[in-house]
Amino acid sequence: MIHLHTALFGISLGLVSQVIAECSRATLQEVTAAYVRAQAAGQPGLLNLASNVSYAENDTPMDIKTGVISQTITIDFSRSLHDTVECAAFTEITAATSPHPYVIHTRMLVAAADGRVTAIESVVTDEGDWVFNATGHLYWTQQENWNPIPADQRDSRETIQAAADAYLDQWADSTLPVPLGTSCARLEGGMYTGERNASANTCRMPSFPTPILAGNRRYVIDEALGAVDVFNGFPWLERTLPPEEAVPSSNMVRVERGLIRYVHEITVCVTARCGR
Ligand SMILES: *[C@@H]1O[C@H](CO)[C@@H](O)[C@H](O)[C@H]1NC(C)=O
Ligand SMILES: *[C@@H]1O[C@H](CO)[C@@H](O)[C@H](O)[C@H]1NC(C)=O
Ligand SMILES: *[C@@H]1O[C@H](CO)[C@@H](O)[C@H](O)[C@H]1NC(C)=O
Repeated sequence: MIHLHTALFGISLGLVSQVIAECSRATLQEVTAAYVRAQAAGQPGLLNLASNVSYAENDTPMDIKTGVISQTITIDFSRSLHDTVECAAFTEITAATSPHPYVIHTRMLVAAADGRVTAIESVVTDEGDWVFNATGHLYWTQQENWNPIPADQRDSRETIQAAADAYLDQWADSTLPVPLGTSCARLEGGMYTGERNASANTCRMPSFPTPILAGNRRYVIDEALGAVDVFNGFPWLERTLPPEEAVPSSNMVRVERGLIRYVHEITVCVTARCGR
């Protein structure tokens, strides 16, 4: 089922990319820099927004003026991905010292013609979300190396996306293979699997009591950083919802020579720590 879905999605992406012009990395870097400034100031107008821009948080469309982007936030650290093929950008914001701490993943779509942002959607996590700890997130993300991969060692978009898809697919069937590196660490909320040994592979997910179909995947892929962010649904986790109902989640994955090196997962809960 998942494979069929992925295959169909791949075909539709292929068709879409024939009609959408590519964006330059410089254009997308301006977008993510402006996004970080806008979020810090609580002024979305600092972004070059299309007049028809859509805005959503945690899979819920809302007025950008009432969104978290209209609040002032002290940003301690951020990482951004730039997808020149899909004309999309992604930023992870860690706000640990802000009066209201957050970890936010934001995906933006950009019009190739004029560089304006046409869609913004965020997974916004704060206290009570899945193992949320912005202090821990800040500490561990700063230990990691997400520098550009030397040009002759880069993986293709397909390899990078396939690695992240395999990681998510395995939640539904623990026997499926996942290309994890011998060094692999997951930053889950503010919890770090590599805390004891950053040189070991601690990324393997425990097998879930029920197959987890992490669907509704939306990708931003950056071959230069060997990275992809996947926005996805995470069913079962929130105890107060029916098990098939998903909560919003995002997985930012770094791939080196085809193997997963880091995963940053943030997941929104309805009740504190998803009732677990
Ligand atoms: C929104 O505006 C952009 C140009 O800024 C355009 O490329 C896009 O097609 C528009 N989208 C819709 C749904 O009208
Ligand atoms: C959050 O993470 C920091 C840094 O790793 C740690 O010192 C602190 O105890 C954690 N807080 C909680 C509530 O787990
Ligand atoms: C960390 O893990 C690596 C790879 O499994 C292993 O070779 C090394 O001995 C471990 N280091 C410690 C201090 O346990």
